[in-house]
Amino acid sequence: MLVRLGHSKDVVAGQMRVFDVAGTKVNVASVDGHLYAFDDTCTHMGCSLGKGTLDDTTVTCSCHGSQFDVTSGAVLRGPAKQPVRTHLVQVDGGNLLVEA
Ligand code: FES
Repeated sequence: MLVRLGHSKDVVAGQMRVFDVAGTKVNVASVDGHLYAFDDTCTHMGCSLGKGTLDDTTVTCSCHGSQFDVTSGAVLRGPAKQPVRTHLVQVDGGNLLVEA
């Protein structure tokens, strides 16, 4: 099910923004004109990835430095071992939609 989060311009280029999607924190990152959505909760010990840093398509958790690829959710650097779940993103007439 697609859920409207807001306007596609709500996520500033090169930055992340966290939304509540049916009780799940979903992070949307804007990289080079593309939007990527993934669970905001780090799979290591549950910190918010939105409090970390985004460098190109790599998000670094501020707690212990785990890194994830926002395009796939894959772990690029531990201590996290499990990927974060990604969500389909669509922009429809300026509306930002993600798969819940
Ligand atoms: S909670 Fe994210 S690296 Fe530990």
